[in-house]
Amino acid sequence: MAALRSSSCRVLGAASARTAFRPAAGAIFTRSMASVSEVPAQPEPKLRSFQIYRWNPDTPSEKPRLQTYTLDLNKTGPMILDALIRIKNELDPTVTFRRSCREGICGSCAMNINGQNTLACLCKIPLETSADVKIYPLPHTYVVKDLVPDLTHFYKQYKSIKPYLQRDTPAEDGKEYRQTKADRKKLDGLYECFLCACCSTSCPSYWWNSEEYLGPAILLQSYRWLVDSRDERKAERKNNLENSMSLYRCHTILNCTRACPKGLNPGLAIAEIKKAMALGN
Ligand code: SF4
Ligand code: SF4
Ligand code: FES
Repeated sequence: MAALRSSSCRVLGAASARTAFRPAAGAIFTRSMASVSEVPAQPEPKLRSFQIYRWNPDTPSEKPRLQTYTLDLNKTGPMILDALIRIKNELDPTVTFRRSCREGICGSCAMNINGQNTLACLCKIPLETSADVKIYPLPHTYVVKDLVPDLTHFYKQYKSIKPYLQRDTPAEDGKEYRQTKADRKKLDGLYECFLCACCSTSCPSYWWNSEEYLGPAILLQSYRWLVDSRDERKAERKNNLENSMSLYRCHTILNCTRACPKGLNPGLAIAEIKKAMALGN
């Protein structure tokens, strides 16, 4: 389950590890020193296998399977996404996954790596073991193809909370809706969420009730608008959560908080919403 998280997948600082990566010396110098008689010795290949979930919608009767690819880590960048890109570029162009920024900014490379939901671009290839790395799409999602989850329902739920500023009172200067520094600070730890869905797809309550339960990612976003001092639909927003399913299926298991690759705390955001509902503030 996503709660089992090893330090190799911890986020912060992982991006900087990429800059430390250098290709094996032989790989570069063999060509540039062709006229020199001594060719640097090639390092021993450091082979590592990756078992990747494969499913093709064009052959729906074929069951999903794991396909194994082996790479020399001497020629591969340090992150799981580096390995996936190499596999796609050099071994099998049909392997399908989402990615964009490659720096933990877009949230599109979320997947389940060795049992943990995380971002492939911020998850280091584990070096402390020689075991195969197992890569699956985010759990309990429909799959578009291979490692690409279908997030249609997730985005529909996001849309349902009206994730934008709603107010009728015009701005004093007719230009900007201002807020104090203290009010702005309330949005820290919330606005950073980039909807990768690592938290929601690691939440057992969401697995079993995702049709009606909003799940940690959407509830964190919901709280982001509830605490925004500029918004004037607080009562309506809270009213929409006042039922047995949308909010109260959270049982404070906290898998969500452990899974978040941005270090956010959706479990706390949910607790704050529940508190505000109970106290009527
Ligand atoms: S704290 Fe709530 S939202 Fe987070 S994993 Fe547990 S049940 Fe899901
Ligand atoms: S709270 Fe974290 S894990 Fe959840 S969607 Fe936002 S960034 Fe992803
Ligand atoms: S590719 Fe953008 S977060 Fe990983």
